[in-house]
Parts: sequence; C-alpha cells; structure tokens
Amino acid sequence: MANRPVLVHCLENLRDIGVKETGIVVGGHGAQIEEAIGDGSRFGMRITYLRQEAPLGLAHCVTLAEEFLGDEDFVMYLGDNVLAEGIADAADEFRRVRPAAQLLVTKVPDPRQYGVAEVGADGVVSALVEKPAEPRGDLAVIGVYFFTAAVHAATRAIAPSARGELEITDALQHLIEDGRTVTARAYDGYWKDTGKIDDLLECNRVLLERLGTAAPAAAGEVDATTVVEGHVVVEPGARVTGSHLTGPVVIGAGSVVRDCRIGPDVAVGRDCVLESAGVGNSIILEGATITDVPDLSGCVIGRWAQVRARDGGTHNRLIIGDHTQAEVPA
Ligand code: G1P
Repeated sequence: MANRPVLVHCLENLRDIGVKETGIVVGGHGAQIEEAIGDGSRFGMRITYLRQEAPLGLAHCVTLAEEFLGDEDFVMYLGDNVLAEGIADAADEFRRVRPAAQLLVTKVPDPRQYGVAEVGADGVVSALVEKPAEPRGDLAVIGVYFFTAAVHAATRAIAPSARGELEITDALQHLIEDGRTVTARAYDGYWKDTGKIDDLLECNRVLLERLGTAAPAAAGEVDATTVVEGHVVVEPGARVTGSHLTGPVVIGAGSVVRDCRIGPDVAVGRDCVLESAGVGNSIILEGATITDVPDLSGCVIGRWAQVRARDGGTHNRLIIGDHTQAEVPA
C-alpha cells in the first residue's frame, strides 16, 4: 500500500496513540508476518504473536488473547483496515469517557457487507447486526474497536454465527443487552477495508496521492531520457532510464525501470525489475520482475513474481501459486 504493508499502517496508528504492547493474532501465514514485522521495536512497542489455529471469528481472537490482555483496556485493530487519518481523536474520547466499548462508524452506500450499528443522537449504540440482508441504517462498523475488560464475559457467552464464527458484533450486542454502554463515534477520515482487490487498489491510489509531503521527490537516479509528470517518488538506489513516469508513482529502493511507461497510481516495491513494461493502477511487491508486457492495469503482483512475454506462443501460459488469481481478456 503505497509501498508499505497495510499492517505497518495499522501499527503506526497504534504507535501514535501510545500503544506499547501489541498482540498480533496470526493464522497460517504467521511466519511471514513475523518476518516482515519483527519484534515491534521499530514501532516503539513489543509485539507478541498469538496463533489462531482456524479462522473462528473476531470474538474468538479476543478470547485467544484474553490471558495476554489481562484486565487492561485495549484496542482491537483489524489488520486489513486502513484509517488514513489515524485514530488519535477516538482513542482520546475512549480514555476520557470509558464506556464498556467504543466503536468507529461511517456511512457506506452498501451496509450489507459490514457490521451495522444503530446509533442514537447521544452516540449510544442501541443495536448491532453483522452483515444484515436488510440493514436498518447505513452506519458500517469500522474495524477498530476500543474495549474495557467487560468484553471478555461477552465473548465467552456468545455462540457461533451462521458463518460458523464467533462474531465481535454479537459480543457487542451481548454487552448492550447486558445493560453496558457501547458508544459509536463517526470517523470522518478516509477508511477502507482492503479485503478485496479493488478496495486495495483504491486505497493504494489514495495513499499514493498523500505521499507528496511525506517523502522526498527523488532520491534514486532518473536519467535525462526519462519523462516525469506529476508526483513521482524514486527511492534511494532505484534507477530509471528511458521511461515515462506519470504520477502518483513510487518506485521502491533498489528497483530498476528501463524503457517503461509507469503510472498513474502505481506502487513498485523494492528490488523490482521492470523492462519494456506498461503498468497503470497497480501494486507491485518486492522483487517482482515484469518484462515486455505493455498493458498491465489493476494488478497486484506478489513478491518475487515474474510476468513476461513469451516468444512464439499464441496462448496465455500462467504459472501461478496457491490462492492467487489471474484474469485474462474474455
Ligand atoms: C469485519 C466485522 C464487521 C466490520 C468489518 C470492518 O468483517 O465482522 O462487523 O464491519 O470487519 O472491516 P469481515 O471483514 O470479517 O467480513
């Protein structure tokens, strides 16, 4: 996401509200996450990895972390949610008011994909439903929840939902029915649940546009035959020759870009090699290689993946890994 993993955005927001101890609940990709994120020292916090054997729901994550959390107040932050303006105001309000739980909500065009909250004028939540077929209201629950230890009794009391998960939404509804106060605060900043590819790309576009003030305009090498339009960040050690870059674009450290048309809305990770390629609206992760493919758009290309044209072939040949997805023209 504009060259930083979504999880790094999450951890920076947590660091900014003064979190010093973080438990990250991981599943099958735990080792890779641990390798990428480390012990937390670069965020000024200590990170403990908590293993969830199967995706049994967000309330299950809380029960799993109960011993780690003790009776402390805590924030649960879903690792695929991007809140571009941070969560400082919400954290301040939670610390000041200390309801049993505090949610962040925002109006969405199609609430059926989210937890939906019914909120009174005083900010108190009267009911919550997970992904309702017929939503009563348009306030989606964002994936950042502030809790007191009161939530633990609720996560223990609920039963799995129709999708077989212990829903955090049901635990919150249980708190409400138990007479506890659950409040909701509108989030006015940019928010995206990046669980789907098109949402991920949209989020990448928004964060690339904001990169302007945060990063140096050019630190890597750009030769005289390269045309640069709009906001383009070339990170240290990257080399761009004979290309056309249309911002917003970021080229990661150590990457080589030769005879390409890149942009707009492209994040190229570190140590990539792009030759005679055309790429727009895409996320290209660390170490990927793209050669002689002129018209890639809307792509997410994984780490160390290779995409290239092949001589003498008339059909598409795909060698793609597990759980990946490729789309070719119909
Ligand atoms: C989860 C929650 C949902 C919330 C959403 C926010 O949904 O269950 O209530 O609105 O995150 O991103 P899931 O991503 O598990 O479908």
